[in-house]
Amino acid sequence: MDENKAGKGKERAAESVSSLIKDGMVVGLGTGSTAEMAVRMIGNRIKEEDLEIFVVPTSLKTEMTAIECGIRVTTLSEHSSLDICIDGADQVDSQLNLVKGGWGSHTREKIVSYAAKKLIIFIDEAKLVEKLSMPVPLEVLPYAVKVVEQQVKELGGAPALRNEGNRGGYFITEGGNLVVDADFGVITNPEKLSAALSSVVGSVEHGIFTNAVEVHVGNEKGVKILKRSVL
Ligand code: A5P
Repeated sequence: MDENKAGKGKERAAESVSSLIKDGMVVGLGTGSTAEMAVRMIGNRIKEEDLEIFVVPTSLKTEMTAIECGIRVTTLSEHSSLDICIDGADQVDSQLNLVKGGWGSHTREKIVSYAAKKLIIFIDEAKLVEKLSMPVPLEVLPYAVKVVEQQVKELGGAPALRNEGNRGGYFITEGGNLVVDADFGVITNPEKLSAALSSVVGSVEHGIFTNAVEVHVGNEKGVKILKRSVL
């Protein structure tokens, strides 16, 4: 992938989504490089337009960026109903189903997205596909990892325990859990797989999201907004 091109696409999409944030909103903030761009843009808008915005971050990284940008951070305990949640994704299909969790933050991201009135996703166009095909991350209790892997196999997936870069250890989530990336090949029915994975005992949460209402897709030239069709 052309990193520079992807960076421009992310930036355009982040601009589009950060312009949706209005004075007085309580906003859920996703995690990742695209989300970080939007956080910085929202920080700039708060300063320039003197906006009062509260955010619920989905990771320590996002929280630290928000604080650095002078954005007021709150919690789901204080604000259990959010006006909007904005987040990146790893893959988006033509029906606006998502695979998330590349940074291992999908549990908090899913919780925050369900606390929000609407989930708006923003991505570089390279992430848009006809059908999802990326391995689906599952956040897994360490005690249960082998049992979860067995259940993934029974569902037709190939599980792989996520490693931590070049440090030789396992990837540990902010919740102190492991991540199993479950490869199901091309996912023909994301809703069905999502329901099946939600029933896996020992898994805290998985990375298929079916609740995005809008996806802002950026490229070098601009942004296309895709909306979920109401059936
Ligand atoms: C975080 O766990 C993921 O769900 C992210 O939304 C996803 O990995 C996107 O990351 P980038 O914006 O860095 O590509």
